[in-house]
Amino acid sequence: MSSTTSRTPEHVAIIMDGNGRWATKKGWPRLVGHRKGAERVKAIVRVAPDLGVKWLTIYAFSTENWKRSTEEVIGLMGLFGRYIQREAENMSREGVRMRFIGDRSRLDVKLQDMMRWIEERTKDNTHVNLTVAINYGGRNELTRAARALARQAVETGLDPDMIDDEAVSRVLDTFDIPDPDLVIRTSGETRVSNFLLWQAAYAEYEFTPVLWPDFTPEVFAEILGRYGARDRRFGGVGT
Ligand code: IPE
Ligand code: IPE
Ligand code: MG
Repeated sequence: MSSTTSRTPEHVAIIMDGNGRWATKKGWPRLVGHRKGAERVKAIVRVAPDLGVKWLTIYAFSTENWKRSTEEVIGLMGLFGRYIQREAENMSREGVRMRFIGDRSRLDVKLQDMMRWIEERTKDNTHVNLTVAINYGGRNELTRAARALARQAVETGLDPDMIDDEAVSRVLDTFDIPDPDLVIRTSGETRVSNFLLWQAAYAEYEFTPVLWPDFTPEVFAEILGRYGARDRRFGGVGT
């Protein structure tokens, strides 16, 4: 495939940014913004399949976010656990398959258990795939992948010359997830902040000034509409 004028992106990845600013502007604690942000996730997951989006990957906590106050970090972790608990029933009913990417080893063991539990519980769902990136960083993921391949070389005699793009993709957290077609970042920042560095090599990017707690299904639909007009060349010469 050298070029496609694309219709709907099958896989949309979102850097949900601006929760803190949204709350601060209203004179509320940052955590209120995160809570409202979680509400938005629910709404976006619900409309995604109707808009033709089969895969949704959202950035919830980066490997850099540990730099925040203990109060905010604990608050966010609590929110993740509660989201899993509260949404388990809905996700089962609505056919949502939930997965997580990122380095889980640093997370609270109870949260790790819940993550495994919901992944197992929703593994046969096929309506829409929701992947949540928690303690995720693209560099950390690639470093862990390099370790996994080095281990295979030492332990099972993997020939380094046999390592190709597919071999690397297979040891990433996203081994069973397609690459994103579109990456959206909210809140007006125009950086990638260590998100899906390998996987988004050929993704389209959309940056919107809308803060994540204000990101409605209507805003989502409008951005998807803009994507439809793009000419994706993948290194070819276009349509
Ligand atoms: C995004 O909102 C959510 C997380 C990073 C967890 P922020 O918390 O980064 O909000 P701002 O950027 O400070 O407004
Ligand atoms: C990126 O947002 C990470 C998440 C959305 C989870 P940040 O707010 O942490 O990114 P920077 O610090 O502005 O790069
Ligand atoms: Mg931010």
